[in-house]
Amino acid sequence: MLSKKMETALNKQIALEGYASFLYLAMASWCDNEGFEGCANFMHRQSEEEKEHMLKIFHYISEVDGFALTPAIKKPPHTFKSIREMFQKVYAHEQKVTKSIHELVALSLSEKDHSTYNFLQWYVEEQREEENLMRTILDKIKLIGDGPQSLYYIDKEIEKINIAEEKAAAAEEGK
Ligand code: FEO
Repeated sequence: MLSKKMETALNKQIALEGYASFLYLAMASWCDNEGFEGCANFMHRQSEEEKEHMLKIFHYISEVDGFALTPAIKKPPHTFKSIREMFQKVYAHEQKVTKSIHELVALSLSEKDHSTYNFLQWYVEEQREEENLMRTILDKIKLIGDGPQSLYYIDKEIEKINIAEEKAAAAEEGK
């Protein structure tokens, strides 16, 4: 049984994950429009992942007899100054999500809600991986440079990362 406080906080997290999904979808569209195919594929996959993160909490709330709420999603930005700026925004959003997950973990402890505490551990690990992935991408962009001649190579590098992520996810599913 969820406390009202925990239920409200988890519903807020649903909205945050939902916004991430829409933000990354908008980024995928911008990348497509700019001709960055690798980055577009990467952001589409990220968007789908965020939708799964949102639904996982949604189902969990129902499972523990709470009331999951479909969130209102605010309109995300649709244009970006550069690939570097876009990935900086992704990294900043992931840091915000991590902070929120950690606050949820702290709340589950103070509410003595061990079921939710256990449930949230998957998110703690996921956020560590996501932040690490975004830092790796930003490091690569820094290394390659993001002048006009470098954009092609950045896009190819992101495509490689995307394929590796897809393979890792498929392997995880096959376990
Ligand atoms: Fe589900 Fe990347 O936050």
